[in-house]
Amino acid sequence: MNFISVSCLLLCGVFACVHSISDNTTVRVSIYYECLCPDSINFINNQLYPNYQNLKDKITVDFVPYGKASQTKSSEGSWTFRCQHGPDECRGNKYQACALDQKRGQDNDVKLVNCIMALADPSDPDEIKDCAVNNGYNWSTITTCYESNRASELLALYGQRTLNVSPKIRFIPTIIFDGQFDQDLQNESLYNFLGATCSKIPKPTPDVCKG
Ligand SMILES: *[C@@H]1O[C@H](CO)[C@@H](O)[C@H](O)[C@H]1NC(C)=O
Ligand SMILES: *[C@@H]1O[C@H](CO)[C@@H](O)[C@H](O)[C@H]1NC(C)=O
Ligand SMILES: *[C@@H]1O[C@H](CO)[C@@H](O)[C@H](O)[C@H]1NC(C)=O
Repeated sequence: MNFISVSCLLLCGVFACVHSISDNTTVRVSIYYECLCPDSINFINNQLYPNYQNLKDKITVDFVPYGKASQTKSSEGSWTFRCQHGPDECRGNKYQACALDQKRGQDNDVKLVNCIMALADPSDPDEIKDCAVNNGYNWSTITTCYESNRASELLALYGQRTLNVSPKIRFIPTIIFDGQFDQDLQNESLYNFLGATCSKIPKPTPDVCKG
């Protein structure tokens, strides 16, 4: 695995609006990331995961594994992707998409994604398999998904969501609360996810936010 770029500045994309359903009991935290991006790895391993246990009743985690990629659909309907850190990154993102598709709940999903993002190579299927199996995901279902069109369809949906964020996503990871991008919260999330999230949690303020 080689980290070609430390900066994950997104330059391409389609301009459109994202609609979100806001629910006043939890904050929806959408995480636009990609598996070989050091900033994404850092956010998930050092911000999301360490704070998750304290925040989990107050947040709805929405993983969007796609990042600074692009996609095209052929006339026959098959997808081609280009990922920032090359084909390996597309492969790793597809494996995550296939695992998330099992819908095993956000506690499991957070553990799984954290495990994968802590691997020596988050795009290596052999390493991903350990994370999946250890967290109760069905590996044969994941590989069947990966080897079928399903993986591309799932990645393309994450792609459409990513490319449709308004304003256009420039940095990966981008963290969006309740569907509304805010540059201050984006910046704060990368070093103080707890504080950024607490500022969005509806009252009554949980103890974890009072410290
Ligand atoms: C959520 O908002 C609705 C309408 O604004 C309100 O009726 C309801 O009591 C709120 N629920 C909570 C848990 O705050
Ligand atoms: C995984 O899913 C397949 C297909 O649904 C099923 O046959 C198999 O028993 C499952 N494996 C495990 C370990 O649950
Ligand atoms: C957010 O961080 C970027 C990069 O460090 C910086 O250029 C920008 O001014 C910051 N924006 C805000 C609103 O703090």
